[in-house]
Amino acid sequence: MIASNEKISASNMKSKKEYINEIVCGHSLTVMKTMESDSIDLIVTSPPYNLKNSTGNGMSHNTKSGKWAGAALQNGYSNYNDCMPHDEYSAWQHNCLLEMFRLIKDTGAIFYNHKWRVQDGMLQDRSEIVKNLPVRQIIIWRRKGGINFNPGYFLPTYEVIYLIAKPDFKLAPKANAFGDVWEFKQEMKNSHPAPFPVDLINRIIKSTTAEIILDPFIGSGTTALAAIMNDRKYIGIEISEEYCKMTKKRIATFNIAEKQKSILNVI
Ligand SMILES: C[S@@+](CC[C@H](N)C(=O)[O-])C[C@H]1O[C@@H](n2cnc3c(N)ncnc32)[C@H](O)[C@@H]1O
Repeated sequence: MIASNEKISASNMKSKKEYINEIVCGHSLTVMKTMESDSIDLIVTSPPYNLKNSTGNGMSHNTKSGKWAGAALQNGYSNYNDCMPHDEYSAWQHNCLLEMFRLIKDTGAIFYNHKWRVQDGMLQDRSEIVKNLPVRQIIIWRRKGGINFNPGYFLPTYEVIYLIAKPDFKLAPKANAFGDVWEFKQEMKNSHPAPFPVDLINRIIKSTTAEIILDPFIGSGTTALAAIMNDRKYIGIEISEEYCKMTKKRIATFNIAEKQKSILNVI
């Protein structure tokens, strides 16, 4: 199980303060364990979905052709194959959520994006992962399109976002008017195989008054970018060096463009 293999040397131990506005390249659980409790206002994340561990004719780990041939996640992530035994995966994700819950303040919340799917003809929701955690709401993220050719059930067109909140968490004024079904197109202009749409993360961040935002599976850095756009602070964790570089480059490019805009405004 990943958790037991994740070791970090004492010299790598950092306090939470040092991670502010940093992208940390490492295992999310290991890195989170080095962070202080009650130090984070908001967590927004989308973990790997374990899509390559499939019972169906979909995205199994040895599928090189067929129905998923064109799917972006066909080859998994750059440094992670997304194919764990289901129970192990659920236990790992549950442990990650427990760790996230330890990190958030009493006013904090976790927005945890996941996908339900059909395995062996039965709906596999994610109740095992979120068990015993205070799920306050499930937001439906309605996406456009989707890929599924299974004649046994309707084409899935949404993902879920679990809002897991500590007792004193409150939305920003007027944010509750967004309702609980959100429609955002998938992000297409991003070479990461499973990026968040920036608008989705903007919606989440604007709906809170959070100052420090953590994404423990930050991928291409969308959460950090949205945090910067909204004048908030970010902490990102990502296992793949390639995606860490991608994120840092994306942040730098955005910051340069913002600087140029403000210079042009002064002129
Ligand atoms: C669904 S993607 C997140 C995409 C991100 N929301 C974005 O907008 O680009 C999940 C990410 O988790 C990373 N990952 C997988 N295992 C990890 C681990 N143990 N620790 C940290 N990151 C991990 C993958 O490399 C992948 O980039």
